[in-house]
Amino acid sequence: MYETKYPKPLIVIHWLTFILLIIIYYIGFTLEDYEFNEANMNRYRLHAILGVTVLILTLIRIFVRRKNMNRLPPPISYYNNWHKQLVSIVHYLIYVFLIFAPLVGFVMIYQTGALSYDLGGPFPSNAEFDHTLAEIHEFAVFSLLVLIIMHIAGVIIYRIKTGEDILDRMLP
Ligand code: HEM
Ligand code: HEM
Repeated sequence: MYETKYPKPLIVIHWLTFILLIIIYYIGFTLEDYEFNEANMNRYRLHAILGVTVLILTLIRIFVRRKNMNRLPPPISYYNNWHKQLVSIVHYLIYVFLIFAPLVGFVMIYQTGALSYDLGGPFPSNAEFDHTLAEIHEFAVFSLLVLIIMHIAGVIIYRIKTGEDILDRMLP
């Protein structure tokens, strides 16, 4: 027996993640205008805390999804096998990058020694992000953004092609 909607906790996490990501991307893109120093630490801290929150929410989301495999709505009417593969790859990669991007961000901050500042120590002098890690973080958040755009476009195109509004499945 299929449900018509996603389980409530998954719906809540889906939209909470959406709101958090808007704020995280906004702060992220403005970080480039602010040097990483003691005066700007709060800005970086907010970005980091919200990012780690997304990471934790995603782990909970994957766990809850596994526990509720038989309570998920039925598969949508895929146009063909290629479409089916594409949807599943996009969903899978979104989960991967929702974990990977904040993880790299965390290592980046950790590597500067700034975490000890949060624990009462001094701010590291000449704190600089590892260039490679910064590039990887940038690649991960850019990839995630592309996947999210594909995801949203997919929902809209499905609506146009089939006349069916699957958004209902993700609304309480
Ligand atoms: C899903 C979670 C995250 C998203 C979508 C995200 C997004 C972004 C974006 C768009 C930027 C600006 C582009 C860039 O220069 O890389 C950025 C920069 C940055 N993010 Fe994140 N971020 C996330 C999680 C985190 C976390 C958890 C941390 C640290 C704990 C972090 C630390 C940083 C730092 C330090 C920068 C500045 C990089 C630089 O100046 O080169 N991010 N992030
Ligand atoms: C930050 C932005 C977003 C992310 C990261 C995201 C991520 C996801 C993921 C991973 C799934 C798959 C759920 C599963 O595991 O079965 C999903 C489902 C869904 N998302 Fe999003 N989403 C985002 C924004 C949106 C927006 C803006 C819409 C509205 C157009 C939307 C509509 C849906 C719908 C309707 C489903 C259910 C698809 C189905 O019934 O199979 N999402 N989302």
